[in-house]
Amino acid sequence: MRKQSVAIPKQFRTVLACGLLAVAWVTLADLALGALVHEPQQLVWALIIKDALSVLGGGLLLRRWMSRDRRSQAQADQTAQREHAPMLRVLVSLMELSHKDTGDHGERVMCMAEGLARLAGIPDEALRDLKIGALLHDIGKLAIPEMVLRRQGTLSPQEVALIRQHPQFGRDLLEQADFPRVVLDIVYAHHERWDGSGYPLGLRGDQTPLAARVVSIVDAWDALGSDRGYRPEWPQARVLAYLRDGAGSQFDPRLVALFLANFDALKASWEQTRVVGSRQSLLTVCAA
Ligand SMILES: [Fe+2]
Ligand SMILES: [Fe+2]
Repeated sequence: MRKQSVAIPKQFRTVLACGLLAVAWVTLADLALGALVHEPQQLVWALIIKDALSVLGGGLLLRRWMSRDRRSQAQADQTAQREHAPMLRVLVSLMELSHKDTGDHGERVMCMAEGLARLAGIPDEALRDLKIGALLHDIGKLAIPEMVLRRQGTLSPQEVALIRQHPQFGRDLLEQADFPRVVLDIVYAHHERWDGSGYPLGLRGDQTPLAARVVSIVDAWDALGSDRGYRPEWPQARVLAYLRDGAGSQFDPRLVALFLANFDALKASWEQTRVVGSRQSLLTVCAA
């Protein structure tokens, strides 16, 4: 299990420190003014000037501390990204070696998910984590025997149950490397369904994180449109009809509408990923 941090968030600590400093300043200043100024009219003016200086000084101090916190957070994010890059390469290579029949599935999903996420209004600064999550969404399948994943024909209930554990396996794996929350959300929740009939938790509607809802649509589109050994690829029209029919039951209806309305542009970038190739796109996400 991921360790739950009980540390107070840095920005809250900054505001708290600012508040305590302000209380100390106001108390000491009032005491000093009370001792130094005895004329009532002068004391009123002294208090007004003191209050104005307090507000101005407090605002400037808070602004300075907040921008310092933002800078140190950005540096910490960059360090984490650098540390994750080699691990990403290893994990993706492992996936490619283990599941040759799915080819560049993860990287195509990453590319399409980025496009759909932009359309859904996910801000640029959150896209890198979303791309990593999309790339690694099926990482938990490394724990599933190849003969089960490739089985032609009907799977036994035990095999189905095992495959359905891949989101949990994936999250357990990535938690050990302290991947960002969004990455874990995608890996853990990309098989949840809008109507609550998905797995592993049976989350309903927007209980499933937005990033996972984005990946779930793209994942289904790419998987159904690809030859998987145990079934041939579906024609494009059939795949799109499946997504349309699944809006409001399997998929977030707003995201399906966005996907279908912008399908040509999304697919153009997906085609480019196919041409450029997996290594190049992986280097792109690692360097982003
Ligand atoms: Fe999956
Ligand atoms: Fe997948």
